[in-house]
Amino acid sequence: MSRLLEASALALVIGAPALAHADTLGRLALPEEVAAWDIDIRPDGAGLPEGRGDVWTGEELYELQCAHCHGTFGEGIGAWPVVAGGFGTLTHEHPEKTIGSYWPYLSTVFDYVYRAMPYGFAQSLEPDEVYAITAYLLYLNDLVEDDFELSAENFTEIRLPNEDGFYMDDRVETEWPTFTQEPCMTDCGDAVAVSMRAAVLEVTPDDPLTDARHAQYLAMAAASGGDAGDAGPPAAAEEAAAPEEEEEAAAGYTPEQVAGGEAAWRQCRTCHNVGDGARHAVGPHLNGVYGAPVGAQEGFRYSPVLTEAGADGMVWDNATLDAFLENPRAHLPRNRMSFNGVRDADERQGLIAYIASFGE
Ligand code: HEC
Ligand code: HEC
Repeated sequence: MSRLLEASALALVIGAPALAHADTLGRLALPEEVAAWDIDIRPDGAGLPEGRGDVWTGEELYELQCAHCHGTFGEGIGAWPVVAGGFGTLTHEHPEKTIGSYWPYLSTVFDYVYRAMPYGFAQSLEPDEVYAITAYLLYLNDLVEDDFELSAENFTEIRLPNEDGFYMDDRVETEWPTFTQEPCMTDCGDAVAVSMRAAVLEVTPDDPLTDARHAQYLAMAAASGGDAGDAGPPAAAEEAAAPEEEEEAAAGYTPEQVAGGEAAWRQCRTCHNVGDGARHAVGPHLNGVYGAPVGAQEGFRYSPVLTEAGADGMVWDNATLDAFLENPRAHLPRNRMSFNGVRDADERQGLIAYIASFGE
């Protein structure tokens, strides 16, 4: 019998005798009742049930029971939580906190899934199934190989990358003294200067163009299913870019080709940044993309199509970029770049030269 059913059967039993004793409020819980709730797992492995499960078994279970919400690659469908990736984003403006990037202990993963997932059918999974799914979640986060089997025996050997990012609350020592000082109320500084700006540009527009561009960007984001809140407006960073380094254009392209591409780049800049300080926007920033595997810009959430193409060894070079830019949807079906393509072959070559001029 599944543990879910056991738990509800117990609940029925408790109800009846409690009513029979009118002079007392309730009664002591039975050991079995306590046991049904006492399923928490500690970082040192205390509380783990016996069992084991491997990545492959986990994949099957995950595909059936979890992927329609959390995504085949843990990327999260719609607004459901992302459970994989996000490495290196914790210090970003919009950190992606996943099991791999953020969670401190594997016991938390096991406990969470065992206790609460799948959403709507909590506690329907047997221990072996939870071991297998937990192994698969580790695999999705690149923390184990595909032949890995997780068990009660090797559980505590697995350490999550961000374990050291957590420490005991030390605010009484570190912050309390600062906040309890007498505040300065008059003549507190020598000069007044603007030291920060609001990140949301409708609040503090830099120039008249910004508002229009931002509105266009939001429309693009909505059309491509992207999340405009995930990234700043793309325009600014690339303005500062494209300096002298174009003189010696990379990858054998002439400065003329690069310059030609710069004009054509206007159709890409609503979604992509290049150059110094380039950030991911609706699309990934494209610094260093030339010569790199497809779908490999760190911290960008690609569609599975691009991620898979990259995993299969596809690399962005002149030929692949040319085919992709000519007709993005036909070349990599079901990718998420909402762009019709560039029909003119010379224009495509210019764009490729331009992109290639932005290395790492
Ligand atoms: C119907 C959609 C749905 C399904 C199916 C589902 N989940 Fe979830 N999952 C959620 C929601 C919603 C949350 C967030 C719950 C909350 O924050 O209270 C969540 C949270 C999680 C989290 C924590 C994520 C975080 O960073 O906070 C993990 C891990 C997880 N689910 C794993 C699984 C696994 C494994 C399965 C399959 C056995 C599964 N889920 C099935 C909807 C789903
Ligand atoms: C409407 C927004 C939008 C426009 C316009 C756009 N792109 Fe994209 N681009 C994207 C998105 C989103 C992705 C990621 C697609 C995915 O994950 O399926 C992408 C992916 C790419 C990639 C693959 C990056 C990688 O790391 O694999 C390249 C190269 C690219 N775009 C080049 C261009 C060029 C060149 C132009 C202009 C001619 C352009 N894009 C116009 C949104 C856009």
